[in-house]
Amino acid sequence: MKNTVAVIGACWGDEGKGKITNYLSEKADLVVRVQGGDNAGHTIVFNGNTYKLHLLPSGIFDPNIKNVLGNGVVCNPKGLMQELDEIKKAGFEGKNLYISDRATVLFDFHKELDAIHEERLGTRKIGTTKKGIGPAYTDKASRDSIRMCDFVSKDFKDLYRNVLIAKNDELVHFGHEPIDFETSYQEYQRIADIIRPMVVDTVTLLNDEYNLGKKILFEGAQGAMLDIDFGTFPYVTSSNTISGGICTGSGLGPSKIGEIIGITKAYTTRVGEGPFPTEMLNDEEELGSIIRERGHEYGATTKRPRRVGWYDAAVMKYSANINAFTGLSLMLLDVLSGLKKIKICDYYELDGKKLFAPCARIDDYARCKPHYIEMDGWDEDISSIREYDKLPLNCRKYIEKIESLVGVKVIIVSVGPDKNQTIIRKELF
Ligand code: IMP
Repeated sequence: MKNTVAVIGACWGDEGKGKITNYLSEKADLVVRVQGGDNAGHTIVFNGNTYKLHLLPSGIFDPNIKNVLGNGVVCNPKGLMQELDEIKKAGFEGKNLYISDRATVLFDFHKELDAIHEERLGTRKIGTTKKGIGPAYTDKASRDSIRMCDFVSKDFKDLYRNVLIAKNDELVHFGHEPIDFETSYQEYQRIADIIRPMVVDTVTLLNDEYNLGKKILFEGAQGAMLDIDFGTFPYVTSSNTISGGICTGSGLGPSKIGEIIGITKAYTTRVGEGPFPTEMLNDEEELGSIIRERGHEYGATTKRPRRVGWYDAAVMKYSANINAFTGLSLMLLDVLSGLKKIKICDYYELDGKKLFAPCARIDDYARCKPHYIEMDGWDEDISSIREYDKLPLNCRKYIEKIESLVGVKVIIVSVGPDKNQTIIRKELF
């Protein structure tokens, strides 16, 4: 048996991965982030308190869990320190953090370059989180980046000086103030000295732990439709958010990945720009606002209101294909209680043709019209139900329709924000 479970956002992120990761992390020995950086925002409700994590893995509150930032992560040292300080204030030590020596370091100039890039795109802007994610991955691909092993080494000062000369040229070119080397170097060096003991060879660590039969939980960030290769390009993030990213972002090979759980909301949301075929617009806009308020659909990182739409089974089928999901976790089902009718998109129509997956060309995708199946809703409050069979019949019909369209079983149903407001149909780990 493979003791590894991956939690992957199935659509455009914000599906509620934090809750499921937190629930599963109770049984895990390790919790691992493999991609992205502090653009992610995971809300964790723990012992009645709410925590917002951006970079730290969700197992950080349990000293018995090893929390790993894998090689695929772009790590902002200042953001990391801020989060570590916050959890310390809340009484957690944070000593159970292991940072890959191969992870890419994200600096302040990356954030500025992110903002510059967005400004330059004007009306075609991506709507990034402005956390510097794209520029940090760009530097990695062009082999200009500083990695964690360099950041904590004695060579950091020289490496940073060289990188900053080039980046300051760019900043000045676009009318920004250059960053003062000495001040910023001192700030980073102070952080490097603190985190040095945490920077290790996580590839060996993870493979050793796997071989010992330890339970490893992979905590995905963002979602499959924001994947740099498979998402709604260019309105995507800069990493591989799909299950394949686990291997390249951690150093654990494909045959070692066991369960792959797609986290999917009972409706769909998206933040930032880009096509969203099932978005509730025009005469459905008011309903979208009601769902936004009920589901607290505001970005954890940027606080932006999320765009709201109907369940998109065409996107989900595509997502199930590229991720090879072994199960789905259906989130925020309680938010739909009280709706008379609920719609599910089963395919798109484009130029008189039926499409069962998003198209590669963004302009084509923007022209796709969703085809809907309409289902009867349910009135009952489901937030205290803990057994699948006790859910209202129409609610079960809705779940089963999703299963048949997507072709993957719903193994977890979430009926409220608290950890215990969860229906488990298959135990993991
Ligand atoms: P970036 O990752 O900051 O470059 O942003 C690129 C796109 O991904 C934008 O549309 C963001 O809104 C979106 N995005 C990035 N991180 C998240 C997330 O954690 N949840 C949802 N959307 C995200």
